[in-house]
Order: sequence, then structure tokens, then C-alpha cells
Amino acid sequence: MDTGMRPRRLRMDGRTRELVRETRIGKSSLIYPIFVEEGKGIVTEISAMPGQKRYSPDTLAYGLEEAAKAGITSILLFGIPQHKDECGSQAYDENGIVQQALRAAKKDFPELYYVGDVCMCEYTSHGHCGIIKGDSVDNDKTLPLLAKTALSQVMAGADMVAPSDMMDGRVRAIRQELDAAGYEDIPIMSYAAKYASAFYGPFREAAGSDGFKGNRKTYQMDFHNRKEAMKEVYLDLDEGADIIMVKPALSYLDIIREVSDRIAVPTAAYSVSGEYSMIKAAAHAGMVDEDAIVAETAVSIYRAGADILITYFAKEIARMIGEGR
Ligand code: PBG
Ligand code: ZN
Repeated sequence: MDTGMRPRRLRMDGRTRELVRETRIGKSSLIYPIFVEEGKGIVTEISAMPGQKRYSPDTLAYGLEEAAKAGITSILLFGIPQHKDECGSQAYDENGIVQQALRAAKKDFPELYYVGDVCMCEYTSHGHCGIIKGDSVDNDKTLPLLAKTALSQVMAGADMVAPSDMMDGRVRAIRQELDAAGYEDIPIMSYAAKYASAFYGPFREAAGSDGFKGNRKTYQMDFHNRKEAMKEVYLDLDEGADIIMVKPALSYLDIIREVSDRIAVPTAAYSVSGEYSMIKAAAHAGMVDEDAIVAETAVSIYRAGADILITYFAKEIARMIGEGR
């Protein structure tokens, strides 16, 4: 039967294609992660993530300025301390690296929105995301330290906190701590469905958390599981999460779709370091067109249902949004 429908009609030229586009991305939905290291005068390339740098609190402004110029409005901060110990005490020190960075950043670029990554692994000598008891991570001993970390970041100026540790009950612990200190209005973005993933490899070099023994499979999720993601998401919503994150992104588009279909809060997706470095490496080898791949993968994450995208390509994506790609 001829319906007279010719789908190609709406593909005939660029204006028509843009008019009927189903997925449109705004720069304000991007979050750009930045690494800050203790010290002075540091601007170092991260070798596992070409194009990404580590800053010290006094040079962070250069990184923020580049991001702001590109039209980025939100920043996610990771800290690399000078001193690590068993209980990650620099994570919740009022003069810890992220706390110092937040104070400097708020002063230089108060118009940007700052998210603090809340975890222990960059701060513990053993490199795990919590306190160790025997050979496993002690969930309930870790909770108060995560809560303290979140509070100290908020006191230093964080606009939002994002716990990435995957301990059970951390969202509630953080919510209670923030509320008790009068920070009822600070949102929590929970890394709710965070899978134990090989895609975090380059990040661990970047954050200096690559020396740890074993793996994170006793707290991060098994990548064979889909329903378990909803269990994590519902628990975190129940505990008071304001935004739910799925991580990594590209191998987890099915999870992003399912989460965003089922919940009534914003869904964030974190396109992680391995996703970034794979594209960089392939482009560097001349195998793919970097911009084209970045645009297509970023759109696929939004098309899967993400409302917010955390990505090391944020500046490039912002530029391409401006170019109408
Ligand atoms: C630490 C943390 C990790 C990432 C964000 N926070 C790594 C991990 O869990 O080992 C990954 C980010 C990336 O790979 O870009 N809890
Ligand atoms: Zn961690």
C-alpha cells in the first residue's frame, strides 16, 4: 500500500533536518570535570587523558576561564591531596584540596555552578572508596566520613554534592548531615547506578587512585545487571537524592533509558575517562573524525534519556552546539 509517506522529505536539506530534530542539547546541561592537585603553579597534562589537565588552587582559574569562555556553566571538582592516610582525612579537612579549590573558584568565578565529588578513594592510602576493615570496605564506618566530606565541601562553597562511593545509605547520611547544619537547599546528585567498570582506568591515573589492590566489585555494580540499577535508583530516591546519575554512559545507554523513563527527577549520565581516552586515541591515530564522533556519542546519551551530561568533552560539545551540530 502506498501511503504517500516519503521519510526522505524531511532530510532534504540542513534547515529541514534541524527543524525536525528530536534531540536538542543546551550548553547549560553540560558538566565539566576538573582535577585539582595540592601545590602551587601546577598545570600538568594528564597523560592518560590527552587534553585534560591537573591544576593547583592558584592556577585553577585558567581552567575555569577556558570552560566559562566555551559557555560551560557547571563544574565537577575532583581533588588530589598531598597526604593520604587510612581514613582519608584530607577528604573532610576544611583545608583539604577540594575545599581550597572551591574557595578559590567561588572567588574568581562566582557565576559558575560547582559540584563536589564526594568519595574517599583519592584520599585513602589503600585507594578504596571507604574505610577498610579486614579486606573489605566497612560500609557503616564510611558513612559518617562521607557525610563530613559533603558538609565540608558545602561549607567551602559547593553548590551541589555528588557521592560516588556506592556505600549503602550514603545519600541519607549526607542529607541528614547537610540538613542539620542548615543546608537544606543544597541538592545531592547521587551516582546511583555506578558500575564496576574498566572505563575508569584513565581517571585513576588522573586522580592518583590507581595504586589500590583488588577491585571495587564489592561496592560498585556488576555490569551484567539491569534490574539492580533500578533497585539502587529507588533506594537513593527514597533517601533523598535530587538527581540520579548513571555511570559510565556509552555502554549503559539501556540503563539511562530505563532510569529516565521510570523516575521523575533529572537523570544525569557520566561519560567517563575511558570513553574520552578511547575517542582521543582513535582520533589521534587518524582512525575517526574526533568532532564527528564526539557529537554523535554525546547526542546518543541525550537521546537515551539523559537530561544532564558530565563529560571531559564539555567544551568541545558546547562549541559544536553553537555550530548547530
Ligand atoms: C571515584 C570516582 C571514579 C570516577 C569518578 N569518581 C573512579 C572509580 O570509581 O574508581 C570515574 C570517573 C571517570 O572515569 O571519568 N569514586
Ligand atoms: Zn571512590
